[in-house]
Amino acid sequence: MPDAPPVTSAVFPSSLIPRSLYSAAVPSSPTDPVAILGASGSLGFGLAIQLAHTGVPIAIGSRDSERGAETAARAAAAVPDGSFAGYDNAGAVREAHTVILSVPFRNQSETLSNLREALSPGQLLIDATVPLAAAVSGKATRMLGVWQGSAAEQAAEMAPEGVRVVSALHTVSAAKLSDLNRALDEDVLVCGDARADKREAALLIERIDGLRCVDCGRLETARIAESLTALLISVNARYKVHSGIRITSLHDSLWE
Ligand SMILES: NC(=O)c1ccc[n+]([C@@H]2O[C@H](COP(=O)([O-])OP(=O)(O)OC[C@H]3O[C@@H](n4cnc5c(N)ncnc54)[C@H](OP(=O)(O)O)[C@@H]3O)[C@@H](O)[C@H]2O)c1
Repeated sequence: MPDAPPVTSAVFPSSLIPRSLYSAAVPSSPTDPVAILGASGSLGFGLAIQLAHTGVPIAIGSRDSERGAETAARAAAAVPDGSFAGYDNAGAVREAHTVILSVPFRNQSETLSNLREALSPGQLLIDATVPLAAAVSGKATRMLGVWQGSAAEQAAEMAPEGVRVVSALHTVSAAKLSDLNRALDEDVLVCGDARADKREAALLIERIDGLRCVDCGRLETARIAESLTALLISVNARYKVHSGIRITSLHDSLWE
């Protein structure tokens, strides 16, 4: 079945860029659309409006293109000068150099399986998935064991060859991202096997005021970063807050 066309009026100039040009040697520019899969949900929507607020065009991906379009309209209401277009997940991926995966863990592998034909070598995949036990009706303060070691390593195993996988954003609260009037002031833990890929992800994420990205090491370290989400959920329940992470004693420039 052909992909559904975008339902909103925005058409991104990147549609004209041959997909073969996506490569680590051609890093994305702020005017390239970023695809967010799961943007109808809490984290994805917060990221969509925050990034759009900084001028990044957003391709909203959903399992259902109509829901993608509705989400794009909802985001446009929150950021009237933002650029949003709604698609099904494959359509959004085809619009973007960078793809943020923000879906529940129970659905991560299915989402990636369905995108085998849409994802291209050279694309940057930023995985925010956390394997919380809540994904299978367990406690949100417990983690699931993942055979690959982490949700990020599962994503790397499932993504087509040449897709560059970075893990980030697990400790950032969707509730805080969703409120553009609320100042952010926290770190984002970034894990991945290539420094250039982590830097590219960091340059995008740090466009959001108040977020600082910290290189936490190889992708296998993601299992630790992911588990911090469960810890923060436990803290949040006790203090009735949306807590975040701050790493101390770092230098001023972390990505030079
Ligand atoms: N919420 C947070 O504060 C936060 C913070 C850091 C990390 N995370 C992680 O980021 C990911 C997304 O979190 P979230 O809170 O935004 O999740 P969510 O609201 O429950 O779901 C996000 C989106 O995923 C899509 N989806 C795909 N398969 C699904 C399924 N089987 N059931 C429900 N939704 C499905 C839905 O979009 P469509 O229906 O449009 O496809 C949904 O809107 C999770 O892995 C979570 O652990 C969350």
